[in-house]
Amino acid sequence: MSERQVLESGSIEPNAHGYREFALGRFGFSRDGYFAYVTWPTGKHLIPADAFLRALQRDIAWGFFYGIVNFDAVVGTLNHYGTVDLFAGRFNEHYRKAKMDYSETFPTAVIQRVFEAVLEDWTNAGFDPFAAPEETGSAFGPKNGSNKEAITRHRVTARRMVSAPGDEPLRSDANGFPVNRQFRDVPQDEPEILAEAGFEGEVVAFNLFAYLSRSDVTWNPSVVSVCQHSLYCPTTEEYVLPIIHGNDRVEWFVQLSDEIRWDVEDRETGAVRAKVVMRPGDVAAMPADIRHRGYAPKRSMLLVWENASPELPALVASGKLPPTPVTF
Ligand code: PHB
Ligand code: FE
Repeated sequence: MSERQVLESGSIEPNAHGYREFALGRFGFSRDGYFAYVTWPTGKHLIPADAFLRALQRDIAWGFFYGIVNFDAVVGTLNHYGTVDLFAGRFNEHYRKAKMDYSETFPTAVIQRVFEAVLEDWTNAGFDPFAAPEETGSAFGPKNGSNKEAITRHRVTARRMVSAPGDEPLRSDANGFPVNRQFRDVPQDEPEILAEAGFEGEVVAFNLFAYLSRSDVTWNPSVVSVCQHSLYCPTTEEYVLPIIHGNDRVEWFVQLSDEIRWDVEDRETGAVRAKVVMRPGDVAAMPADIRHRGYAPKRSMLLVWENASPELPALVASGKLPPTPVTF
């Protein structure tokens, strides 16, 4: 094995807790019963194992997402769409001032491969990083089996609109998606379609609330409609968004049901900027220069509206586009 291969792989022998240890460039990853440890040349940091696995799961499933995925106030990834920076303290004012921050750039496929290996080895049987805490077992303790089925779920992605011919079939009891325990009051009837003569095969509609009521994952937007770069990505939320997302573009939220509280911070420093409480019907445009984390006291439905245009990050970064869509 070349040195590079060794740096990007993991130990074969498990540690005393039964878990493999991993290296990626000069970053190291290890875990014990309760914590994941991340090391880099100037620091060592720990994150509770359940929180680490929930964040890692989303970073992988979303292909490193738009902009920044902070696992917490210290460790995270920055997507350059082709390469990814793995950083420690990069978006933390105090680490920056103390020159304790550290960052390395990897080809997306390399960091993806290592992250997938960590997630697979460190996720025990019975723990589902996508599930709400009340709906899954424990992440803690010595190594105990694996849960490949849960961690290799992909987010559901329509190419046009859910229910359009050839696209993602609607979920149902029959295909393994029962209505969630907290959405039993959501009507399951489907819309009646009255198409103009001659257009019968071209008009489609579906009950988005019924669709979302059957989501078996939390904080995992699924694309339900695509119109050029406009993506409707609704999701069901419960407990805490496992990452703190620093965006590289404006992102719209439409609260469809129940309530989510958002902590909004400065993207670069983490300084607190706003607390936002969203109730059904509320709409928010999250600015392009913030980071945010959501809290949902009970399962709720949120529509995340993304503009996936690849030109946006450069336009925002250069100041050609303002960080907010509207100036009041
Ligand atoms: C976000 O960071 O904007 C985000 C991520 C996942 C969600 C909702 C919002 O489920
Ligand atoms: Fe976001």
